[in-house]
Amino acid sequence: MTGSIITVAQQKGGSGKTTLAANLAVGFLRQGKTVALVDTDPQGSLGRWFMTRVEEHPDATVGLDFATSSAWGITYETRKLAGACDIVIVDTPPKADSDLRPALRVADLVVVPVAMSHVDLWATEGVLDLARREEKDALVVMNRTRARTRLAGEVAEAAARLEATIAETQIANRTIYAEAMGKGLSGAEGRKTPARAEVDALSQEVADRLAKG
Ligand SMILES: Nc1ncnc2c1ncn2[C@@H]1O[C@H](COP(=O)(O)OP(=O)(O)OP(=O)(O)O)[C@@H](O)[C@H]1O
Ligand SMILES: [Mg+2]
Repeated sequence: MTGSIITVAQQKGGSGKTTLAANLAVGFLRQGKTVALVDTDPQGSLGRWFMTRVEEHPDATVGLDFATSSAWGITYETRKLAGACDIVIVDTPPKADSDLRPALRVADLVVVPVAMSHVDLWATEGVLDLARREEKDALVVMNRTRARTRLAGEVAEAAARLEATIAETQIANRTIYAEAMGKGLSGAEGRKTPARAEVDALSQEVADRLAKG
């Protein structure tokens, strides 16, 4: 088996990298795929999420694996995991420097969350640039969107001018995403909610993009 490797990266802190990594993982599980998460961020938030899930929802970890890695060990770690599961998702620290290179180099797709602000958007060029230099496909995901606000309109318009593909699916600003993370869950679990539809749509969009190669 050779699974696909997705690296979630964005220089701006708090843009939603870890939230997206966890939600995409559950989205792929919901598609019947096996998933491995790799945390390269010393903050270890994704690891906390995974351990909470293991303790509180053991049944929900079937098909889900987790590893930590240093920035430089990522090539070995992800290749090993891609030999055993369908999707490997790498969460990275808020940086866009040479430390990020190995995680980009190993990726089949780079997912770049942008929380709805101009400041977040400005920070995005750095990662897109690095991804481009590694000749990697990148997908920008608008996160924490607030429908029908002027800011959302402005940011979306500015994002469209980036030399990058913007995902059709947006992840709205919803308390359920923050709450679910603390419980080791995703926005897609629990009651049928708009968040579930977003997570499923984004996971499908990412899967389609990977399939195109
Ligand atoms: N769509 C969303 N709706 C509501 N809250 C969100 C959403 N996405 C992220 N958050 C919240 O925003 C904060 C930052 O998210 P997260 O930790 O995923 O970002 P990050 O990019 O991984 O941060 P860091 O750069 O520190 O690693 C968290 O409190 C998270 O719960
Ligand atoms: Mg994070």
